[in-house]
Amino acid sequence: MKIVAGATTLILAVALFTQPAFAEGDADAGRELGYTCLGCHGIEGYRNAYPSYRVPKLGGQKAGYLELALRGYRDGTRKHPTMQAQATSLSDQEIADVSAYLASLGAETVAAGGTQGAEFDKALACTACHGPNGISINAAWPTLAGQHEDYIYNSIRQYKEGKRTDPVMGAQAQLIADEDIALLAKYFASLEGLETTRPE
Ligand code: HEC
Ligand code: HEC
Repeated sequence: MKIVAGATTLILAVALFTQPAFAEGDADAGRELGYTCLGCHGIEGYRNAYPSYRVPKLGGQKAGYLELALRGYRDGTRKHPTMQAQATSLSDQEIADVSAYLASLGAETVAAGGTQGAEFDKALACTACHGPNGISINAAWPTLAGQHEDYIYNSIRQYKEGKRTDPVMGAQAQLIADEDIALLAKYFASLEGLETTRPE
């Protein structure tokens, strides 16, 4: 048990010190660009065609994480045909701006969701990074609280199967038992947090 805890601390320390620098995002500048995105991300329950899972909620998500995800799609380290097409022509500044804009929508719910505790014992392994209430403690890591259950489920499967790679989360996913994936997805989805962003 001690070794596992030590390893997590080490991963955490490495992750904290190797954060990439971010451009300063301007939410106002990102608004216009953001309208295209809401064509999918702004529709409650909108689905990815195959495999079928809901398009992730972005409202209240950490701006730094949105930037990392978009750069990942643009640079090909994160694969998804539709999102790669969306991100391909964006500059670093545009990515920072649209991330700041999308993160600014729904941020109040995330802030207000801070009272819920980790009541599911299997989720304790996640709280060091994703927060005791599913709200990330680090600007570059995703909030899970309120995210769509089927999207969370699919993401964990992708990490486990190596279809989505990340040095930190990839290693964590290997520690999640197959039978716990659905339980964890259900738990984090049930917490108050992220929202489907709607055009103002
Ligand atoms: C045609 C529908 C569609 C459009 C338009 C679209 N997205 Fe997406 N987006 C998706 C789908 C589907 C996923 C999930 C992909 C995956 O599983 O990796 C996604 C994932 C994302 C993610 C990753 C979220 C996470 O939690 O990891 C970000 C960030 C994102 N989109 C931002 C944007 C931005 C910014 C735009 C506009 C420039 C945009 N999207 C336009 C369908 C769309
Ligand atoms: C040591 C830190 C750490 C721990 C512990 C951790 N994660 Fe993560 N997790 C991350 C990071 C960093 C990312 C973003 C990786 C990326 O960019 O793909 C992530 C991404 C995710 C995503 C994708 C979110 C999205 O919006 O696409 C899910 C789902 C997830 N983690 C679930 C879990 C669960 C469930 C646990 C506990 C069993 C857990 N994580 C434990 C660091 C951690």
